[in-house]
Amino acid sequence: MTLYSILNLVLLGVLNLMNNITVASTIVTIEQKEFTAVLKTPAKPVTFPLSAEQKQLIQTMKTKLTDLGGVGLAAPQINQGLQIVAIFIPESAALLRDNVTPYPMHILINPTYEIIKTSALVEDFEACYSVSSKAGKVTRAKKIRLTYFDENGQQHESKEEGFYARVIQHEIDHLQGVLITDRLGPDSIQGSLEEMMALRRQELAPEKRALYDALMAKKLRPKA
Ligand code: NI
Repeated sequence: MTLYSILNLVLLGVLNLMNNITVASTIVTIEQKEFTAVLKTPAKPVTFPLSAEQKQLIQTMKTKLTDLGGVGLAAPQINQGLQIVAIFIPESAALLRDNVTPYPMHILINPTYEIIKTSALVEDFEACYSVSSKAGKVTRAKKIRLTYFDENGQQHESKEEGFYARVIQHEIDHLQGVLITDRLGPDSIQGSLEEMMALRRQELAPEKRALYDALMAKKLRPKA
């Protein structure tokens, strides 16, 4: 979820042609008016067993998120109004934040969460593949109780916290038609991606700035 350049948002669409099913994996953004509906409308729940088309969509999302370098991708972001999320938190995401546990690629279907009552609220930088003009500090609950189904229809329930809980809240927002532009209030720290990248760098301890620059240069800029 670290900040990212606009150039990386203008990605060429890749078509997955398998079993005569086509799923385009181009990321759509809120700045593209024709995709306002898919990004701002609550996504539909998925029923099991998954169709061949839904399995293909999941494969496309995994490939896409791997190519992007993480950390989260929701189906509406590739123009599919379904409650499917892919999460992949690489080791590199843990280098610049204190509360990050790396996670391998996994899929959450029909995920929901509730905020644990005693949880603190924390603010941190967020950017979004589907918002190219803005980033900022978003307030999220530190601890949540997460429920979701995996690809096999198995239900999972767990308590989550830290960066993973933040990513989950960001992705479930996508499934409810909510973007960081809706979460950034008049008092939130916000600005262009470039401004927020500069601010984030400034807030890092000096010894981490070189690492930040190296990661940015390598385009290891995972977002959600
Ligand atoms: Ni996002």
